[in-house]
Amino acid sequence: MRIGLIGAGRIGAFHAGTLRAHAGVGELLVADADAARARQVAARCGGRALPVDALFAARPDALVIASATAAHAGLIARAARAGIPAFCEKPIAVDLPGTVAALAEVEAAGAVLQIGFQRRFDAGYAAARAAVAAGRLGRLHTVRTVSSDAVPPPAAYVPLSGGLYRDCLIHDFDILRWVTGREVTEVYAAGANAGADFFLAAGDVDTAAVLLTLEGGLLATATATRYHAAGYDVRMELAGSEDQFAVGVTERTPWTAVEQGAARGLPGPAAGPAGGAGPASPAVGAEAAGDAGAGRGAGGAEGPAGADVGRPGGGAGSGTGAGAGRAWSGFLERFGSAYRAEMDVFLRVARGAAANPCEGRDALRALLVAEACEVSRRERRPVRVAEIAEAAHGAGVAQARARAAGAPGHGGHGGRGGPHGHEGAVA
Ligand SMILES: NC(=O)c1ccc[n+]([C@@H]2O[C@H](COP(=O)([O-])OP(=O)(O)OC[C@H]3O[C@@H](n4cnc5c(N)ncnc54)[C@H](O)[C@@H]3O)[C@@H](O)[C@H]2O)c1
Repeated sequence: MRIGLIGAGRIGAFHAGTLRAHAGVGELLVADADAARARQVAARCGGRALPVDALFAARPDALVIASATAAHAGLIARAARAGIPAFCEKPIAVDLPGTVAALAEVEAAGAVLQIGFQRRFDAGYAAARAAVAAGRLGRLHTVRTVSSDAVPPPAAYVPLSGGLYRDCLIHDFDILRWVTGREVTEVYAAGANAGADFFLAAGDVDTAAVLLTLEGGLLATATATRYHAAGYDVRMELAGSEDQFAVGVTERTPWTAVEQGAARGLPGPAAGPAGGAGPASPAVGAEAAGDAGAGRGAGGAEGPAGADVGRPGGGAGSGTGAGAGRAWSGFLERFGSAYRAEMDVFLRVARGAAANPCEGRDALRALLVAEACEVSRRERRPVRVAEIAEAAHGAGVAQARARAAGAPGHGGHGGRGGPHGHEGAVA
């Protein structure tokens, strides 16, 4: 297959390596707003660098969108209109109108869009989902998720990121839905700023805690922070009437179990590339966190906790590879296997050989929860997700009517999808 990749930053460079190593990929085309970066990644991966327009003109069999978030919606719509199956990193956009409009284009064109929520391809989360579905925990009553970055992102990243809920916790909101099979109905969110001033200046927080209610009254908490020098920490605990399971608790979990008398649980993340199996991003090492993960020490250490759902002491998953014995350094290391698995599935989806495992509507669902968190934090009150969906639906209908009436200034988002795609798009 001939694959186009737009965006050659941290995650784009990683995907480039995965694609080039894939037996099904015959040619890789790489574009980036920064032409030098595209050339660098293309050279490293044996691909061909070219401008974005030339990439579309080359009509690749599939497109991977890993650019900065602000460019996602436009590229998704362009791919849909061109009939090119697309994979796009989360989020589709940092706002609901942008997300809904892009989805309307995709649905009007009947196009393929897979979203990059890679935790769905992690062996640990998959095992937890299977255990819940099989009823092994009994009645699920409490879920706890943790997403902690080892180091904060650069100041320039923060105002463009959408904030901690949309940029980072959105992964937790998606995986909560996916593992439990339930929708989030209500949130109560708080945030704190004790770190660098640029978070506050951007209207963002550096640490957050959310209390979520899911269908059936299931309770969950989700926490995130940009300041977790012990190491990158992404976990989930699921407690039920019959049993309790944990995802992400391995020999590399960056914590100290004080009862075991440990003076220090683990050495911190490696300072340099930890593995080498994966392609080093041009940004790795130079950039810090940003997507619930530090770039420090990113590399190719073998992936996440295995599908172990055994008893304590029964082996804590993999944690093998070059970084074994150290805390996870960041997302590229912790989720390397998951990123490779999601890309493999996408190539099959693009060929029509597999069902789409993570559709655009999943991104919308997770974003609605993140939006509810922002409102909750700002207004210091519990917020129903339906309240956000209804408001977005109302705005979408008004926008569609204005467009249908030919009102000036409303031609931007609809494209040939027209208003019908918007009505009911937020459901
Ligand atoms: N799924 C995950 O775990 C995960 C991890 C990291 C990043 N992400 C997402 O991936 C995206 C990229 O993140 P990153 O950390 O690689 O960022 P980055 O800043 O390292 O790279 C972004 C790249 O996009 C390029 N770019 C910006 N606008 C463009 C445009 N209009 N056309 C072409 N190229 C453009 C930039 O020049 C840069 O090279 C973000 O949306 C982020 O949320 C997801």
